Amino acid sequence: MNLPSLKQAKIRGKEDIKIIDNDYVIPNSMKLIGKGKHYFIKTYGCQMNVHDSENIKAILEDMSYSETLNMEDADIIILNTCAIRENAHNKMFGFLGRVKHLKESNPNIICGICGCMAQEEVIVDELKSKYKWVDIVFGTHNIHKLPFILKESMENKHQEIEVYSIEGDVYENIPVKRDSKYKAWVNIMYGCDKFCTYCIVPYTRGKQRSRLPKDIIREVEKLYKDGYKEVTLLGQNVNAYGKDLNIDYTMSDLLKDVALTGIDRVRFITSHPWDFNDKMIDTICEYPNIMPYIHLPLQSGSDRILKLMGRRYTKEEYITLFNKLKSKIKNCAITTDIIVAFPTESEEDFNETLDVVNTCKFDSAFTFIFSKRAGTPAALMEDNLTEEEKNSRLYRLNEVVNKYANLSNQRYLNKTVKVLLEDYSDKEGYLMGYTDTMKLVNVKADKKYLGEIVDVKITMIKTWSMDGILSKKV
Ligand code: 5AD
Ligand code: SF4
Repeated sequence: MNLPSLKQAKIRGKEDIKIIDNDYVIPNSMKLIGKGKHYFIKTYGCQMNVHDSENIKAILEDMSYSETLNMEDADIIILNTCAIRENAHNKMFGFLGRVKHLKESNPNIICGICGCMAQEEVIVDELKSKYKWVDIVFGTHNIHKLPFILKESMENKHQEIEVYSIEGDVYENIPVKRDSKYKAWVNIMYGCDKFCTYCIVPYTRGKQRSRLPKDIIREVEKLYKDGYKEVTLLGQNVNAYGKDLNIDYTMSDLLKDVALTGIDRVRFITSHPWDFNDKMIDTICEYPNIMPYIHLPLQSGSDRILKLMGRRYTKEEYITLFNKLKSKIKNCAITTDIIVAFPTESEEDFNETLDVVNTCKFDSAFTFIFSKRAGTPAALMEDNLTEEEKNSRLYRLNEVVNKYANLSNQRYLNKTVKVLLEDYSDKEGYLMGYTDTMKLVNVKADKKYLGEIVDVKITMIKTWSMDGILSKKV
């Protein structure tokens, strides 16, 4: 058993990060263990978690399990959790109630918890004391050890908890079963060293550690060869890519090398305004296959709150960067994340946030009420607002955000844009996909166009999506 430790998770040492490429092994005795059996996996949270689930699926399939989308049919149920906000807690324990019910009629079902919540000391304490029937708990650092964790639990019939609060290494060659045949997530780095005061990620995901450029390029080249049209480079803070490697190579170099593989579309998330330099902007402008879409979290428009959040930029610096991106990158869409009701946020502070939204007129924004995360500095700050005030700020912010989201979509009416048709739409007879600027479009098209980048004429605008028809010309 290995338990998470918050104290340990806060440490950032000077040691070099190890690249480990031979640590994924399946014992022969485990290779057929899942024959005729099924797994069900439920994923919460960000794309990083979605991609981790793609690894977990491949590992389970290496053990001969096959996937079921129906939890009632599963022999293994895995819950890949997110810790970013408190409501994740209720979601996970609510879900566990349903699993317990199934386990009561079939005690052989194996239940596993992984992801960011499994890295939290307080959560694992709760699982250990009140949820003894949960069979395995593993963290974000040791997904590749899943076969051994399962084996241990199956053989010894006890709760197996294997969570490490280490700073982290980089593991290569972990198998992946991708959800899409056309677009792929590619991790370029793990962890985060920014320590924004509200955020739990630096504790759950560990120290910032970049993958080697050659490993990333090799992965993208293979995807391109396999017919993939789009890659999204993933990291908590991609603009800081490479800073932890002792080589003269930055995100701008990586973007260029990934673009040069020839893959049709290159995306990247998430950017921190602090590390966004001119060289990177120039690279985005230079390569047409780097998409003109940037997710640039603002968090707050008040300098006082930004300082308390530890964001290291001011309102003015953010707006200057925003304007530079808009003026240099042709047809660039910019979205953001905003937190309201951070401890001590006054009405004036909140108005500063509204002011930035009114200035930048974002294409879209993810908006959140501040959520206290145990162990983060902001959890100790005085939370002076009533629930009513918090909800009112979120509501008022969303009104403004939605207005601009709708306006930015209106510009597309009757225009012809390129869309990668990646799946069936919920709408009968339609496929769905995204523009280069990451606008969701439902397109009336035959399924033979799946996986193609097609020209689409936009015929109808809604706040969160658009409808279109196939067009002959660009
Ligand atoms: N409370 C509310 N929102 C948060 N986020 C991160 N931590 C918290 C928190 N404690 C939001 C930030 C971040 C996004 C992924 O989630 O806006 O950019
Ligand atoms: Fe969290 Fe800040 Fe790191 Fe983003 S940059 S993951 S908000 S600590």
